[in-house]
Amino acid sequence: MSDQGRKSAAKGFSTRAIRAASRTPRVGQRPSSVPIYQTATFASADAQELGDMAADPRAGYSYSRISNPTSSALGAAYAELASGEAGVALASGMGAIHAALASQLKAGDRVVAPLAAYGSTRTQLTDTFARFGVTVEFADLTDNTAAAAAIAAGPTRVVYAETIANPTTVVTDHATVARLAHEHGATYIVDNTFASPYICRPLELGADLVVESATKFLSGHSDVIAGVVAGRSDLIRKVEKVQIDTGATLGPFDAFLVLRGILTLAVRVERHATTAAALATWLERQDGVQRVLYPGIPSHPQHDVAMRQFRPGVAGGMLAIEAAGGRDAGRAIIDALTLTELTASLGSVHTMVVHPPSTSQRQMSDAELASAGITPGLLRISVGLEDLEDLQDDFAAALAVARDLAPAVEQPAVGV
Ligand SMILES: Cc1ncc(COP(=O)(O)O)c(C=O)c1O
Repeated sequence: MSDQGRKSAAKGFSTRAIRAASRTPRVGQRPSSVPIYQTATFASADAQELGDMAADPRAGYSYSRISNPTSSALGAAYAELASGEAGVALASGMGAIHAALASQLKAGDRVVAPLAAYGSTRTQLTDTFARFGVTVEFADLTDNTAAAAAIAAGPTRVVYAETIANPTTVVTDHATVARLAHEHGATYIVDNTFASPYICRPLELGADLVVESATKFLSGHSDVIAGVVAGRSDLIRKVEKVQIDTGATLGPFDAFLVLRGILTLAVRVERHATTAAALATWLERQDGVQRVLYPGIPSHPQHDVAMRQFRPGVAGGMLAIEAAGGRDAGRAIIDALTLTELTASLGSVHTMVVHPPSTSQRQMSDAELASAGITPGLLRISVGLEDLEDLQDDFAAALAVARDLAPAVEQPAVGV
């Protein structure tokens, strides 16, 4: 019917098109995958219902910056796997770290953070939080005596650590650090990105909040940026408040991709870890490799702590090597590798090798790098799902290229 010819009760084409294309199907049978609720808004039954949700976002859905069913499903799934009462999904790992920290901190508060940690987390603390009056003390939190001294050195509001540190793979003793934090009235927040809840669940070891970059092992395919936080319900409510206020919300399609990744998290991490353990043992025997850092091998400085708090026999997919020949050798190895992705990320099906001094830790001065145990020739390897023999062949060829360089310059010995 043409719009001119319509009867007065009939609606015009545009109105009918908008209504027809917005009608959501009633589905009697449960879908096997969590649906992607790709909508910014949800219509309430009446003004009272909309008002109730403005007062308490948990009363239902109104606006996807505040909450969205697909993103809520991811928050709940992560909480269950991390042994938290509640969980929340955010726009990125950095968004998750920010929301967890900001939910606990105010001007004048003091944070104790690890010397070895993801570079952007350091700068979030030293640049963004510092501008709002928060002070940060960095300490070697893999050394329980140093951790105790740093926490006791002043009133401490938050102790922050990584389960397996980026990039050196050093491991924190969560049970001890959580006890020290609680003795001083501090909240213990842990970044579990390198481990994933399949390997380690810091909340079971005493942490108050656990955060992860879901960009990495949780989603696993390097196709989404996302973050998650889990913990006690009262603490997660405060994290959600920061997320809503700052808009660090995860979109529904991105939440769906992480949920899909979680379906295969266990089998992927098992395979990442089996290949990583074999590659680490093999690399330890290769000429041109000064040191291998992998929590699953006895030479790792916190091997015993790792074995105590990880799933038995699964030490993860992350390892680091120190190339004999320092910075030039490290760069030569990266350039000579052919199977790996030259990128700054990790936790993917693709093996990824980075040179932290020039990527993830580029914000740090040489002195800061040295104090964090990062030698100039350090390479971080995120072992993917390729065949072990192909990776060994690729590394063997790359190490040969590095060995052919000009005579190696000895690196200063720096402990981690
Ligand atoms: C340990 C760790 N935490 C947090 C992040 C930040 O995650 P995103 O890039 O998802 O913001 C990263 C990123 O590499 C990381 O390695």
